Amino acid sequence: MRVGLLTGGGDCPGLNAVIRAVTKSLIGLCDAEVVGIEDGFAGLMEQRTRVLDWRSVSGILASGGTILGTSNRANPLATPEAAQLTMANVQALGLDALVAVGGDGTMTIAHGLAQRGLPVVGVPKTIDNDIEGCERSFGFDTAVATVTQALERVQTTGQSHGRVMIVETMGRYAGWIALEAGIAGAADVILLPEIDYDLETVIQVCREREQRQRYTVICIGEGAKMRGGAVSVDRRIADSPDPVRLGGIANRLLWQLQPHLKSEVRATVLGHVQRGGAPTPNDRVLATQFGNEAAQLVLAGEFNRMVTLNQGAMGSISLDSVSGRNRLVPPAHPLLVTARQIGVSLGD
Ligand code: F6P
Repeated sequence: MRVGLLTGGGDCPGLNAVIRAVTKSLIGLCDAEVVGIEDGFAGLMEQRTRVLDWRSVSGILASGGTILGTSNRANPLATPEAAQLTMANVQALGLDALVAVGGDGTMTIAHGLAQRGLPVVGVPKTIDNDIEGCERSFGFDTAVATVTQALERVQTTGQSHGRVMIVETMGRYAGWIALEAGIAGAADVILLPEIDYDLETVIQVCREREQRQRYTVICIGEGAKMRGGAVSVDRRIADSPDPVRLGGIANRLLWQLQPHLKSEVRATVLGHVQRGGAPTPNDRVLATQFGNEAAQLVLAGEFNRMVTLNQGAMGSISLDSVSGRNRLVPPAHPLLVTARQIGVSLGD
């Protein structure tokens, strides 16, 4: 059996742990030949591959990024010709199956290729934790740990100088990172894409804290917006399947708040720091479980499916119900309730 393996979309802590687990499981279980595809779907369109053996995946468990490289621009479904070429390459490479590790964009492409007859298994990857049908993707825990530490660190400056400190997280249109890290990092205000903030409410919280505590820490997801306002777009990448890149809301909020407050307002945009570095132990374990589960699905011939974690248990879901969807923080999520009950403002 010859199985292709690629990592698509943005890099994410734990990708190498998945590569290692898929390779070791497939070799160990059925002596499969594992073909690493370079730079995501770009490598499949250009037939850039390398064989992955036991030795090539040794010692990579704890390293960030992906040894295969990745791309969030290549789209084999962009035109009928590109799709045809990709399917022809699959044949030419002699692949019996493909394991695609990626976020919602990668899963949507994987689904499209499955519909064209490619036996594919998806593995959910994203720091955003926003993949439909899966309660936790690897990379999220690491990102939350990084943001939590950042919130703790800015608190020092907030306390010392009596400032309002705003920290902007990644997460696109989902507020999972901001919500979990905001709670773990003791943010006073957590602003999420799912709950438009009322500027007056945020001003009042900061003013009150100016009197009482001298400082305020605000954790804001990059996709958040003021009630009646628009999301803050950092750039558009024309040839990407998902062309909009969010960013800049922390600075926008800074200038909305500053005229109404005595204290100085400062903004920190964490950016790709959240995607870098070694995965946490939890992410290493989850990524290893996902990789092994993907190998099991390949062996069982269960294709057009994505590996999942739900209620703590490994499982899988049809790519039909994942493709083109996002998992957002629901309005009655227990963490929102907890945050409110301990006095965190959600800006509404
Ligand atoms: O989906 C992961 C993610 O890091 C988002 O949180 C962020 O909006 C986006 O990718 C950034 O992508 P890029 O690295 O292309 O700027």
